[in-house]
Amino acid sequence: MREEINVLIKQEDIVARVKELAEQINHDYEGKTLHLICILKGSVFFTCELAKYIKVPVTIDFMSVSSYGNAMTSSGSITINQDLTMNLEGRDVLIVEDIVDSGRTLAYLAHMLEKRGPASLHICTLLDKPQCRISEVDVAYTGFVIDDLFVVGFGLDYAQKYRNLPYIGVLEIKED
Ligand code: IMP
Ligand code: MG
Repeated sequence: MREEINVLIKQEDIVARVKELAEQINHDYEGKTLHLICILKGSVFFTCELAKYIKVPVTIDFMSVSSYGNAMTSSGSITINQDLTMNLEGRDVLIVEDIVDSGRTLAYLAHMLEKRGPASLHICTLLDKPQCRISEVDVAYTGFVIDDLFVVGFGLDYAQKYRNLPYIGVLEIKED
């Protein structure tokens, strides 16, 4: 078995799109302090890139959730491995996610975090696979809409590997 990765979105295209998202966010949150919630581990790279171009005051917190295990298909159950360290009351919260697939993770998270009393709560995702949606999620900012492909890089993993790739690539498992 051989893992083959083909580039889907180049690094420069990711950075250019992230800058556009940041501009939109700067406009929408003018005069406010933005509280970013980075969903570990996948959205670390995206959160860092995005935060660099946000001009309104930013605070960042982290949360770790698992929904995938090591497989390429969604497990359907979500586990909170590590909760936030800051409260959300009165904050303008933006959940930063790597990819929305079935939507189960974000539907669950948004519902859970909404109960903590944020002033506002929105979702920003680098990638969206709308063809795979099972649970409805309201995504305010989307980097790229992609087909039903399994992708790695820029934070996204396959069995914890490939997060460090500076581009988004399609992973194929070849049986040689
Ligand atoms: P959902 O709950 O099905 O929307 O799954 C979202 C999570 O599954 C993401 O945060 C990723 O961690 C993982 N995931 C979904 N699709 C992919 C993919 O193509 N590559 C890597 N991870 C993925
Ligand atoms: Mg994730």
